[in-house]
Amino acid sequence: MDIGIDKIGFYTPNVYVDMEKLAEVRGVDPAKYTIGIGQEKMAIAPLYHDSVSLAANAALSILDDEDREKIDFVLFGSESGVDHSKSGAVWVHHLTGIQNEARCVELKHACYGATAGIKMAMGHVALNPDKKVLVLGADIAKYGLNTGGEPTQGAGAVAMVISQNPRILSLDNDSAPLTRNISDFWRPLHSDVPVVDGKFSNEAYLGMLKDVWKAYSKKTQRELSDFEAMCFHLPYTKMGKKAIQAITEEVDESETKRFMESYHSSIFYNKQVGNVYTGSLYLSLLSLLEQAPEFKEDARIGLFSYGSGAVGEFFSGVLKPDYKKFLKKDAHESVLDDRRELSIEEYETILQQSLPKNGDDIDIDNEQVNVGKAYLSSIKGNVRNYTVK
Ligand code: HMG
Repeated sequence: MDIGIDKIGFYTPNVYVDMEKLAEVRGVDPAKYTIGIGQEKMAIAPLYHDSVSLAANAALSILDDEDREKIDFVLFGSESGVDHSKSGAVWVHHLTGIQNEARCVELKHACYGATAGIKMAMGHVALNPDKKVLVLGADIAKYGLNTGGEPTQGAGAVAMVISQNPRILSLDNDSAPLTRNISDFWRPLHSDVPVVDGKFSNEAYLGMLKDVWKAYSKKTQRELSDFEAMCFHLPYTKMGKKAIQAITEEVDESETKRFMESYHSSIFYNKQVGNVYTGSLYLSLLSLLEQAPEFKEDARIGLFSYGSGAVGEFFSGVLKPDYKKFLKKDAHESVLDDRRELSIEEYETILQQSLPKNGDDIDIDNEQVNVGKAYLSSIKGNVRNYTVK
């Protein structure tokens, strides 16, 4: 059965920080952030956006009434969940008006959660061919002021509808997963920000990429020449360049050059948003599909998902004819272009704000332009209240 991505949309908050200005204030050469890390802008989530409202906005941008009737499974991948018990999927299911005879679950493993969602969705559609699954990857990547990870923060969500006979990308069912119990990046229960060994995390990512690529290639007999382009989990966009260099190190340099051509399209959105953890790989895929010239029919795209701690997977998909017709390039460019730049002072204030940790009620100021269709408006009696405009 042909199963894959039928629709894909994304959302990021309406405010961002300019990386050159952040570098100046931090006393760093701006080229370190823009070239060394590869980020131009960094999305910041004010209190009116959490992983649920970000995911709801991404989903609202793609769902129609037929999807709302046929979706019977909502899978919410996130490492910035808003409750220890209730899944973000239940809120998104409610905020987007999906019919009630559905299952809703939250999935966690660092940046790998949405990929786990896709794998589960494929199995569900194989057993229930008339049903569709909504897979979400929604996160706020926050390391804190003046930390090593500060220039690799970000916020946003990607939503995908997985169905049979998809109109964008058919997913191959022959991927190569790998799990390694390591401590490169994690967030202890007591902490709002992760503990990270930056250099080790880069090495762990690249080591896992090489291993899953070898395993995938052995299993499928496919070689680099079978791929038109590659998309990677992008904690920062320079990582994509390192990833291409890593998997092409044993082949002719012309292969590196070939993949570097599409790399620029695959980082176009990510370099304006930053790390969105679970959504990052899929934001890169969306960027590639919307920003690169149309690929030929049946072009195969390679995908590498990495979640620290660590779970990785190399998988692939084949583009459908006319896939460009089913993308929302103009709407996605507007989400990015209609944002407001924060001064560094405003950014520092927002980053230090948090919702009450003692159960107090709060009304959240959201009287700003472009806050999205869905946002967090208050917490009363420990219940989160979202508004959908
Ligand atoms: P750092 O120590 O600030 O930076 O850490 P650096 O000194 O390594 O420099 C970064 C790059 O900038 C280097 O290039 C420098 O040469 C270059 P590279 O050697 O890497 O190619 N550079 C310059 N380039 C141009 N002009 C200049 C200049 N100066 C320096 N003037 C680090 C960087 C990414 C480690 C840090 O920001 C960090 O810890 N980030 C968070 C962790 C992270 O993103 N890890 C990525 C892999 S793990 C992962 O992807 C999973 C994750 O998404 C979480 C999850 O799974 O949930 C993070």
